[in-house]
Amino acid sequence: MRQRVTAILLFLVPMLAAIVVVHPPVALAQQTIQLPAPRIEGGMPLMSAIARRQSIRAYSERPLPNEILSNLLWAAFGINRRDAGERTAPSWRGSKETDIYVATSEAVWLYDPAAHALQHMMNGDIRATTGRQPFPATAPAVLIYVADRARMAEAPEQEQYLYAHVDAAFVAQNVYLFATSEGLGTVVLGNVEKAELAQMMKLRSNQILTFTQPIGYPK
Ligand SMILES: Cc1cc2nc3c(=O)[nH]c(=O)nc-3n(C[C@H](O)[C@H](O)[C@H](O)COP(=O)(O)O)c2cc1C
Repeated sequence: MRQRVTAILLFLVPMLAAIVVVHPPVALAQQTIQLPAPRIEGGMPLMSAIARRQSIRAYSERPLPNEILSNLLWAAFGINRRDAGERTAPSWRGSKETDIYVATSEAVWLYDPAAHALQHMMNGDIRATTGRQPFPATAPAVLIYVADRARMAEAPEQEQYLYAHVDAAFVAQNVYLFATSEGLGTVVLGNVEKAELAQMMKLRSNQILTFTQPIGYPK
């Protein structure tokens, strides 16, 4: 009997350990995901990507590998001049006020361009609130563009809203071109219940939620 119990334990203990490692409980969820270094060469020739760019509103369930997420976020608004910390999209007076949040089926992350990492912001699936249409809820990732007005303090308040949207649009266009080059589908969204989404994300009053942008492999 004792031998049987020992044999069962010898079999079960490593299995349970493996389950804990592979599926960490929510409370133990990783706080930061270090993205792999982005691949910053290659891709489709620019003129071909521009020629093919279009909005796509139906996505397959296929997840985005971390390598693709890494390249996507770098192309969107990563650092392309390491010494000066300058970025792949322009911004008003170089204020770099656009933050990119990434909503997945499990959590919301904030892209940290300096560390090229994702910081965990909250658990839960908020994709259904990232657009009034139904398809964002099915995208493996939804980018949410949020401007920090504190970084544009020199601009009058009304202009801050203008620059927040203009600057986010440059980021969104980078995402469109990257998506086209990689065979991904995306669409920028303004038709969003922004107050509800901002509340869900616990944004501060000096943050402006401008656009969202679901992205995934086309269906
Ligand atoms: C500021 C802005 C907001 C948009 N908002 C939405 C939206 O909420 N829902 C949507 O389906 N498409 C939205 N679009 C995508 C446009 O509908 C799309 O770009 C347009 O129909 C042209 O199609 P194309 O991108 O395939 O060339 C938006 C585009 C822009 C530039």
